[in-house]
Amino acid sequence: MVNFKFNAYTEMLFGKGQISNLPEVLKGYGKNVLLAYGGGSIKRNGIYNTIKELLKDFNIVELDGIEPNPRIETVRRGVELCRENNIDVVLAVGGGSTIDCSKVVAAGVSYEGDTWDLVKEPSKIDKVLPIVTVLTMAATGSEMDQFAVISKMDTNEKLGTSSWNMIPKTSICDPEYLYTLPSIQTAAGTADIMSHVFEEYFSKTTDAFVQDKFAEGLLQTCIKYCPIALKDPENYEARANLMWASSMALNGLCGSGKEGAWSCHPIEHELSAFYDITHGVGLAIVTPRWMRYILSENTVDKFVEYAINVWHMPVKEDKFALANEAIDATEKFFKDCGIPMTLEELNIDETYFDNMAKSAVSHGGLAYAYVPLNEGDVRKILEMCL
Ligand code: NZQ
Ligand code: ZN
Repeated sequence: MVNFKFNAYTEMLFGKGQISNLPEVLKGYGKNVLLAYGGGSIKRNGIYNTIKELLKDFNIVELDGIEPNPRIETVRRGVELCRENNIDVVLAVGGGSTIDCSKVVAAGVSYEGDTWDLVKEPSKIDKVLPIVTVLTMAATGSEMDQFAVISKMDTNEKLGTSSWNMIPKTSICDPEYLYTLPSIQTAAGTADIMSHVFEEYFSKTTDAFVQDKFAEGLLQTCIKYCPIALKDPENYEARANLMWASSMALNGLCGSGKEGAWSCHPIEHELSAFYDITHGVGLAIVTPRWMRYILSENTVDKFVEYAINVWHMPVKEDKFALANEAIDATEKFFKDCGIPMTLEELNIDETYFDNMAKSAVSHGGLAYAYVPLNEGDVRKILEMCL
């Protein structure tokens, strides 16, 4: 296990009715609140009204219309609003897109140049306004991590940035807020949680037993509860376990002490940058193909571990047969959750595969992945996704 720093800085207020603590949480930062949210789901499901009612005594300025795959233009709009209104704290109400946009807004206020610089060069992030989140989607882990992913569609760039200063101070996670999620978002969010775990489970570091056991537990949680949430959207147990899995998958619990760059995320981010697709859908498509592509004498034992410990498959003499069964089970799971499993279904063809492969390798550091990937490898994986 390599050396690491682990810090779970975010206060998590988890469970039914935790929203009642919001005024108390915000009071510590000041009166002027930027309320950031997406395309209107929080108005349709009543969360917006609840918050407005609770925050009667605060000065609320709204940043609305944050896109899934949030755009740099929206970040810039948020920064302006903060400056004009002397904002004390940013309140992000929504999924990963709203939280990510809010993080870079909060970082951009004190930065004199263009906020896109903060996405391209995370080291430029310095002072960040406090960020509080109300989570409405189980997926990215943004509610408890230091990352933000922002898109610049005119140049087909979707890039991740990171700073410990951007980690939310408090996140309110009420599983009932997930009841109104469209099925595809429940499924895509679960694929995202699972991918965060896979990216760290399949690692060059082989002696991080504790992390791998956390990882297997989180994967089993997703496999058990996503189908239940899809069938019965108001099943509290299912929503609560998925929500907590989202936060635990990317807060360092599974990844600390592990070496290497991620594999599927850089490839998916290119698909989103060129075609604006849902992050979790792209990951569900790429993941099983990547698994098949990297399966070899060097990796087969890890896939056997995955088959036995996560899918409870019986031990087999033929290791490759068992590994392939686990990969097939992964693909079938995503398909059964209702995720389109080919790029063709998303109207994506090979037009930009070379551009995507080039960017994925350079932005994602794929040469340092579990199995190093070059541009040709990424192109082949994308072709397998057609
Ligand atoms: O915009 P609204 O109207 O709110 O609707 C959203 C959006 O259309 C809807 N939604 C969210 N909560 C809902 C709801 N609809 C009904 N009821 C609710 N309770 O769902 C749609 C998707 O929302 P979004 O925030 O885009 O989803 P997600 O949480 O999956 O975030 C995806 C973004 O996060 C980035 C992705 O790349 C993508 O840009 N990621 C962020 C990471 C991080 N910060 O650590 C890591 C991830 O790997 C990922 O890259
Ligand atoms: Zn992700």
